[in-house]
Amino acid sequence: MRIYLVGFMGVGKTTVGRALAERLGFPFVDLDEVIEREVGMSVREIFDLHGEPFFRNREHTVLRQCSTIPDAVIATGGGTFVFEENRALIRDSGVSIHLSASFDLVASRVRTHPSERPLFRDERNAFRLFGERQRHYRLADVSIDASVGETPRELVERIVLVLRQTGRADRALP
Ligand code: S3P
Repeated sequence: MRIYLVGFMGVGKTTVGRALAERLGFPFVDLDEVIEREVGMSVREIFDLHGEPFFRNREHTVLRQCSTIPDAVIATGGGTFVFEENRALIRDSGVSIHLSASFDLVASRVRTHPSERPLFRDERNAFRLFGERQRHYRLADVSIDASVGETPRELVERIVLVLRQTGRADRALP
């Protein structure tokens, strides 16, 4: 089964995704990392040199490639789930889990390295994006509040429990 973690920048998709993959014995894929490897540049450089549309194009292509891996935990970028064509791919190939957190929490995390995230350079713009994107994130199959002070390991156990309860796991989870 494929498990996609979605949600805003700084909610912990990569950290939790890696821990969840380890827990399930699945490979872990981070979309941004794959894009960076394939293009040979950091996300920041891609935005600066080629622009956001180029990045979104690669993001969709990489997502499509990932959607055929038999078992995987896939951390998407904060904008991936905002686009209907990406949501359709995710819907048709796996389960989406929205990690949610308050803007204050994500901003306090991202603020330490703002230059790495082109869409967080201007915090007011990031706040606007945060608000606009919630209606998309709400379309995920499962929503998990990631701001209650749990460790990634505790969050992972909660995710496994919720997946079992909702019957969204297409086979018994280890
Ligand atoms: C983006 C989020 C980033 C990265 C790119 C665009 C967004 O990923 O894909 O900077 O549109 O929110 P993270 O959510 O992993 O920071």
